[in-house]
Amino acid sequence: MKIHEYQGKEILRQFDVPVPRGHAAFTVDEAVEAAQKLGGPVWVVKAQIHAGGRGKGGGVKVTKTLEGVRELAGQILGMQLKTHQTGPEGQKVRRLYIEDGADIGREFYVSLVTDRGSQKVAFIASSEGGMDIEEVAHSTPEKIITEMIDPLTGLGDEQAARIARADRHGRPHRRAGGHPVQEPVPLLHADGRLAGRDQPAQP
Ligand SMILES: Nc1ncnc2c1ncn2[C@@H]1O[C@H](COP(=O)(O)OP(=O)(O)O)[C@@H](O)[C@H]1O
Ligand SMILES: [Mg+2]
Repeated sequence: MKIHEYQGKEILRQFDVPVPRGHAAFTVDEAVEAAQKLGGPVWVVKAQIHAGGRGKGGGVKVTKTLEGVRELAGQILGMQLKTHQTGPEGQKVRRLYIEDGADIGREFYVSLVTDRGSQKVAFIASSEGGMDIEEVAHSTPEKIITEMIDPLTGLGDEQAARIARADRHGRPHRRAGGHPVQEPVPLLHADGRLAGRDQPAQP
């Protein structure tokens, strides 16, 4: 089953996962209305297609004015968006998602993929999120970690801890003694909330 970002975020919202506010829009006027409802001061106009890599392809744009929302919605709606996941023919953009602009501290990458071979769920994570996960996979594959989850037992504590430590993969700290050490920062609260870097998890 293929769903769009705005539909996926609606599902996450139902399970109390914090996601930025946003509204789907099928026309330029609806995009502007959505932006008015959100209230700003920063909006992101996002093409809804069944493929990732939209940002690099020009399908995700940030603006600080309603006029900007109108202009970007006009540009992105109807465009033939080409990303590394669409194939050379691209996909026509028929829907938009207008979202509150977030002040991004760091971007992580997380995906869950069913692996038919092992009959498990591959939990793939990286501290190097953002727009170029393919490039990370190509040039620094050690920054991507994979934990295979048995659907019968679920994600184990050890696995969750290893995923949380992905934050510091490849970023050894030096202690006074001069030994390089990995200093894991707890990233995921036990109840699943994402902990900010400056906000250590409660014991
Ligand atoms: N709500 C938002 N606020 C601020 N920046 C955003 C927001 N949504 C996306 N971005 C920026 O746009 C980039 C691309 O958006 P994303 O949702 O990751 O689409 P894709 O993975 O298809 O390129 C993100 O990596 C992020 O930098
Ligand atoms: Mg992305």
